[in-house]
Amino acid sequence: MRPARISALAGLLLLAGCNRVQSALDPAADQARDIHGIFVLMLWVCGFMYLLVLAFLAWALWRARSRLGSLAVGEGQVEADDRGIEGAMGGWTALVVLGLLVLITGSFLVDRSLAKAGAAPIRVRITAQQWWWNIEYEDPDPSQRVTTANELHLPVNRPAEITLASNDVIHSFWVPNLHGKEDLIPGRTNTIQITPRRVGDFRGQCAEFCGLQHTNMAIDVVVDTPVGFDAWKVRQRAEAPAPMTAEQQRGQQIVVSGACSLCHAVQGTTAGGRSGPDLTHIASRKSIAAGALPYSKAALAAWIADPQGVKPGANMPITGLKPADLQAVVAYLDTLK
Ligand code: CUA
Repeated sequence: MRPARISALAGLLLLAGCNRVQSALDPAADQARDIHGIFVLMLWVCGFMYLLVLAFLAWALWRARSRLGSLAVGEGQVEADDRGIEGAMGGWTALVVLGLLVLITGSFLVDRSLAKAGAAPIRVRITAQQWWWNIEYEDPDPSQRVTTANELHLPVNRPAEITLASNDVIHSFWVPNLHGKEDLIPGRTNTIQITPRRVGDFRGQCAEFCGLQHTNMAIDVVVDTPVGFDAWKVRQRAEAPAPMTAEQQRGQQIVVSGACSLCHAVQGTTAGGRSGPDLTHIASRKSIAAGALPYSKAALAAWIADPQGVKPGANMPITGLKPADLQAVVAYLDTLK
């Protein structure tokens, strides 16, 4: 097979859900399992009906052909045929009604189970913006709150209540391994519950066209053990570490006193901008620019030097930093683990 064909086939397989980090066919949470269940039920019921339709069609064709030979069909035969068709139609209608009843009952039960909101020990507020996700872990105790971006962490086997909001246009939060799609709508909040059942890394995607960079609005999700999750939260609560080398110190100076701080916050410094992602622990994340690039110093440099080259239309401005300053900024940001 030619390489182009192989990659096209691989693409199809990914679309078909063989890619386990972003697949509705590989549920890793109670809610995704319920949705997968109704999908399988619909597939069986509709597949069975479809096969029946094809079987009857084949039978009708075969019967018409076999009648062609005998031109004269008696009066009695026609009446018998009519009675047969009436009976078959009655049976067919009953079957369709039964199939629909099964589907309605299934959808109703899944809907009820998705709407069921028990007490959730984890409460997260996700606010969508063009084109990234602001993530806040809520807590009655302000010292326990955590703000991060584009990477959601959840502990396995603990229900999480996720409140979804938007600051600009309608987005849609969709992590297929964990739950179905839910819109984030300006001026209102939607709430879903996710109870992850398997430790692992998953990928979500904005599922509502929201402008130029809609396709580059991804979210990384890490389902961790409760111990691992608590440790992550402790690390995220910590303020940014102080820069060690002269270059890192210069980088911090540029970030804190320059244009960066107008949009980005670094806890523990005076940078307190809110319109871009919180950078306090950016170097601990898997990717930057909402999943556009895997995290690395080179990716950071490329993104800061030319945001429009990575995400055309993105709201991150060109800072015009000199190469040495850019290097210092990247050296500083890389300490923000
Ligand atoms: Cu946000 Cu599409």
